[in-house]
Amino acid sequence: MHKSQVHVVDHPLIRARLAQLRDRATPSETFRRALTEIAGLMVPTVTHSFTTRPVRVTTPLEECEAESAAHPVVIAPILRAGLGMAEGMLRLLSDASVAHIGMYRDEETLRPMPYYYNGPENLADCEVVVVDPMLATGWSAAAAVTQLREHGATRLRFVCLLSSPEGLRHFSKTHPEVPVFTAAIDRELDARGYILPGLGDAGDRFFGTVR
Ligand code: URA
Repeated sequence: MHKSQVHVVDHPLIRARLAQLRDRATPSETFRRALTEIAGLMVPTVTHSFTTRPVRVTTPLEECEAESAAHPVVIAPILRAGLGMAEGMLRLLSDASVAHIGMYRDEETLRPMPYYYNGPENLADCEVVVVDPMLATGWSAAAAVTQLREHGATRLRFVCLLSSPEGLRHFSKTHPEVPVFTAAIDRELDARGYILPGLGDAGDRFFGTVR
């Protein structure tokens, strides 16, 4: 694994919210709040290396040198669970655009099946932040990055809450130049491709569709 590209975003506020997400007794409302808040808490680390350009601004008193973002930001949630993370990030990156990526997992092969893409056409000048709470097998994340590259993206990052060692290995092998930001690295995947100990199905728990 290209370990230098994997950043564990560790913070007491994130750890406390992860505990809520992992707890099977946590109701959907609390789960939603904790997930969006973690995504927001990860923003400063994820965007730390974004570049800025100098701008002149006029304060009420005088002109001065300031800085402005050098590249537009695009948040790319993998549907559906990525939507919750996008919501949390948009609270801090309010001028970002959103590229929706529809990717469901074939439950037999565990491989991603793309079914939808809607985002800005030319991503070449953008900082693209791909979000999905769970980096499990790593196949959906890798396929989403490939799809965004086909739309011109060159500056990419992948952000998740929980990742598995298997998923990180697959993703880093497929896209070694794309940094991964994760709030925690869990132990392993089970036979169905769920992360252990994990938090269950992030989409079902976020949208209250647990059966
Ligand atoms: N997707 C989830 O929502 N949970 C997992 O554990 C793995 C993939």
